[in-house]
Amino acid sequence: MYTVPKLEDFSPASLDKAASELREALENEARSALDPKAFEEFRNRWMARKNGLLTQVNDMWLKAAPGPAKRDVGQLVNALKKAAEVLVSDAEQLASSSGLAAKLKSETIDISLPGIERTLGVRHPVLRTLDELISVFVKMGYSIAEGPEVESDYYNFEALNFPPNHPARDTQDTLFIANQERHPQRDRLLLRTHTSPVQIRTMESQRPPVRVICPGKVHRNDAPDATHSPGFHQLEGLCVDTNITFGDLKGTLDHAMKSLFGSAVKTSFRPSFFPFTEPSVEVSISCPFCGGKGCRPCKQSGWIELLGAGMVDPNVFGFVNYDPKKLSGFAFGMGVERLTMMSYNVDDIQQFFYGDMRFLEQFA
Ligand code: DAH
Repeated sequence: MYTVPKLEDFSPASLDKAASELREALENEARSALDPKAFEEFRNRWMARKNGLLTQVNDMWLKAAPGPAKRDVGQLVNALKKAAEVLVSDAEQLASSSGLAAKLKSETIDISLPGIERTLGVRHPVLRTLDELISVFVKMGYSIAEGPEVESDYYNFEALNFPPNHPARDTQDTLFIANQERHPQRDRLLLRTHTSPVQIRTMESQRPPVRVICPGKVHRNDAPDATHSPGFHQLEGLCVDTNITFGDLKGTLDHAMKSLFGSAVKTSFRPSFFPFTEPSVEVSISCPFCGGKGCRPCKQSGWIELLGAGMVDPNVFGFVNYDPKKLSGFAFGMGVERLTMMSYNVDDIQQFFYGDMRFLEQFA
């Protein structure tokens, strides 16, 4: 480390040598003051009024110079001071900009690095169909009603006019909650086998007129195969008012099916049986794949059975204190997976539940 030498000899040659050694040290140190901290140390070492190297030069060279040499030494020291000021100010700039450079370097982001890809989710095809159906009925003035998935025997069966021990109950392979034997039958809990109990809950809680749809999950003790699943979705509908006729039922469902499958589809109504409707019908649509000519999805018949419906049985009105002499209504229920299979030509209901991305990505 450079120290200011004491001068014995004030000859021009000796002064020159001392001055160039000092300059060299000053320049070297200025060059290595690369960050703000190093620069501060450098500046203090050289410029501090009290005992900085230039002050030492002043004391040891100028003040100590004999009379005749004073003038030369004075000029030399002034020149060194000026040079030092320039070097210090250059070093200051360098230090602060290289501090900035270091800061920028530490904060760089590598824009060539591939980002983390977050795949966007899409609505599940079954829920997409359900949304479409809901919007069709909402446009016709229906509101949405919901009920519990764990339901009592009363709502799932009895109030829907399935008498206790009636064989019609066997058509719905019911999953019962265990250890309910101590309760009266009507209070025993089960997983609802259809969304029809929401009809009862709705009529219990509001006066007519009623126009509701009830979307939701239902459960049956069915072994999974290409057309059955122990859990699936239904959309129920109920319309009750004065003077509701079978014509209203036909018009409403015909409109809904045309909205879903296109205006070319036709609907057909065949007699059927449900305990809670009288008369009851099975509704089919003309096959949207072949237009009715016959193909594999419609099993060459030209028609596809899609839902159950009917006029609300007066006995059901009796359970909810609606007056069957003044009121009439229709109801319908459809399987959402089945409709989705039709809409997207899916041949295995299990695909909706596997969670296989190769299947689901086709709906993205
Ligand atoms: N709940 C019936 C079922 O799951 C479907 C059904 C048929 C609902 C006729 C209705 C209806 O509202 O009127 O098989």
